[in-house]
Amino acid sequence: MSPALNGHTEIHKWCRNFPGTRDQVREARQFVSTYLGERPEIDAAQLIVSELASNAIRHTRSGFPGGHFGVTLHAGSTLLIVAVLDEGGHFVPRLREAADEDLGGRGLHLVEIFTVRWGVYGDAAGRTVWALLPLTSSGPVP
Ligand SMILES: Nc1ncnc2c1ncn2[C@@H]1O[C@H](COP(=O)(O)OP(=O)(O)OP(=O)(O)O)[C@@H](O)[C@H]1O
Ligand SMILES: [Mg+2]
Repeated sequence: MSPALNGHTEIHKWCRNFPGTRDQVREARQFVSTYLGERPEIDAAQLIVSELASNAIRHTRSGFPGGHFGVTLHAGSTLLIVAVLDEGGHFVPRLREAADEDLGGRGLHLVEIFTVRWGVYGDAAGRTVWALLPLTSSGPVP
């Protein structure tokens, strides 16, 4: 297993696939915390992976029986990318206008608030939604 993020200058990359069921959102959060440890960015990173994994399960074929989604973390000394790969479908990730009374349409707004940038690549056969967060240069060693 790769070492957890320790503030050195190397670029780290960690990936894992998860079954596309709702209980796996918690597992994805745990995966993130395994590598970010006690860093101050952990709450934002966990919120982002929760929203993106939930979207993969809810809006794409990843949530169909037997479906999967993937989570990748890329971490350098000052930046973290959280990316969720799904199995595609007819919908396209986009910010929705959410009225006060709407129950949904907020996840990607949260992602936008907590990131420097986010984006999507891929097509109906499978998309990756990625989000870029700044990392403090000297987080504690887990
Ligand atoms: N991975 C994805 N693939 C395809 N479409 C997506 C994906 N993620 C989001 N979307 C589309 O973008 C819209 C906005 O996503 P967002 O997460 O903001 O809201 P939501 O999932 O509908 O509701 P909430 O996250 O508040 O429960 C979704 O309604 C869906 O149509
Ligand atoms: Mg959502």
